[in-house]
Amino acid sequence: MQKVDSFDMVLFGGTGDLALRKLVPALYLRHAAGQIGSGARVIAVARTGITREEYLAQIEASCREYLRPEEFNAAQWRSFAALVDYVQVDATQAGDFRKLCEALEGREDAVRVLYLSTAPSLFTQICDNLAAAGIVTPISRVVLEKPLGNDRASAELINRSVGAIFSEQQIYRIDHYLGKETVQNLIALRFGNALFEPLWRRGRIRHVQITIAEQLGVEGRGQFYEHTGALRDMVQNHLLQLVCILAMEPPTSSDPDAVRDEKLKVLRALRPIAGGDVQTKTVRGQYRPGAANGQPVPGYLDEAGVAADSTTETFVALKAEIGTWRWAGVPFFLRTGKRLQERVTEIVVTFEDVPHSIFEGSGRTPNRLVIRLQPQESITLTILAKTPGNIMRLKPVNLALDLAGSFKEQRLDAYERLLMDTVKGNLTLFMRRDELDAAWRWIDPIRDAWAQHDERVKTYVAGSWGPAASSALISRDGFAWQDET
Ligand code: BG6
Repeated sequence: MQKVDSFDMVLFGGTGDLALRKLVPALYLRHAAGQIGSGARVIAVARTGITREEYLAQIEASCREYLRPEEFNAAQWRSFAALVDYVQVDATQAGDFRKLCEALEGREDAVRVLYLSTAPSLFTQICDNLAAAGIVTPISRVVLEKPLGNDRASAELINRSVGAIFSEQQIYRIDHYLGKETVQNLIALRFGNALFEPLWRRGRIRHVQITIAEQLGVEGRGQFYEHTGALRDMVQNHLLQLVCILAMEPPTSSDPDAVRDEKLKVLRALRPIAGGDVQTKTVRGQYRPGAANGQPVPGYLDEAGVAADSTTETFVALKAEIGTWRWAGVPFFLRTGKRLQERVTEIVVTFEDVPHSIFEGSGRTPNRLVIRLQPQESITLTILAKTPGNIMRLKPVNLALDLAGSFKEQRLDAYERLLMDTVKGNLTLFMRRDELDAAWRWIDPIRDAWAQHDERVKTYVAGSWGPAASSALISRDGFAWQDET
């Protein structure tokens, strides 16, 4: 673990939900683990007129709430709190940036991470004001939280204005899914072992499914969600990034651009879904009242901030295809939704069946590699084995990687890993401008076609696995979702 001592982490949106729930707890944990030295500083920036002491009380309360009890230690907290400052800045007021400038004075040689955890509509103004106040040094980095635009055009505007102040090497577009331990394990599995490479292609793999299912609803973010929807909130970024890691060609090295070049090729090779295709290759859903953990929960239309006649989707299922020699003809089924039956994120790679079975009466079950990201991380290969007894009967059994038993090291939350990467200057797990552009280029026509073809949202009961049309989508190719098998 490389210790970093002298850096300034400036958190715009310092009183916001993400900072309180994820960013500050992640920094505290890294400090408690000894990775952040006493020469580092965390400067929270927000519009709210509170004192440093009041801010410290706020973040202490949120850390106590969001961390596990054994992760929070009063003495370690005091030592972390000593590094934290609070500066009141209205991001739209250029004059306010003088206060930030003063807080940073004399530390021009330290790495400066300017983390914009604000509405994206403020990104341009913040960057302009930072530059005008002379805060952007050659070793400054800017971190951009999603959503990065609403479509390709708005993303391009953000990229252009941020790009006028920061070079591409200074821009960290964060997708926290890439910071998840199992995603990096997938890279290790694919490129650290010779075993899988010959199998990782058409002819060997029959189809791939990726599910990001959430049990939660929109949780007070109704207003934001109304203008976003699942396609933009989850597919454009998290799901497509998982597709890239799964489908990319072996990079020539682990150099950030070598990896990002290969991911970009995948995004560019996605076959467009446009026009009438949306009727057979996509499903949009919206939850209606139902239950979560045995308790009744409201439907999306009853959530605060949501229009009574909203058609925003809270569920999407898609059949994606990648037009390359490696993947032609292998469907990638993607689905994500809120208020589904369980919280589970998993990738299921189903291999081809045996060409000819010599085991009469034993149903054929293709091998499957199941990579589970959450709630618990696991990697399992399902293979067929003989059931004990005097007849030859085969049953699927699991070859499971014992990740928890094999490693004693503490597992990091995605934000712990990614925040430290911004400090160390490692861009591998961040999206490059052209990747973002290619992702929007694929997503925009889907939205347009939904509008043109009046592709309505199909409702589903909260606590189910989404609309029935989602099962129909995958069954048209003769497959079923993992939870249906
Ligand atoms: C965020 C989305 O990017 O990811 C949220 O905006 C979603 O709507 C969240 O709930 C899911 O992240 P995780 O890590 O809890 O699966």
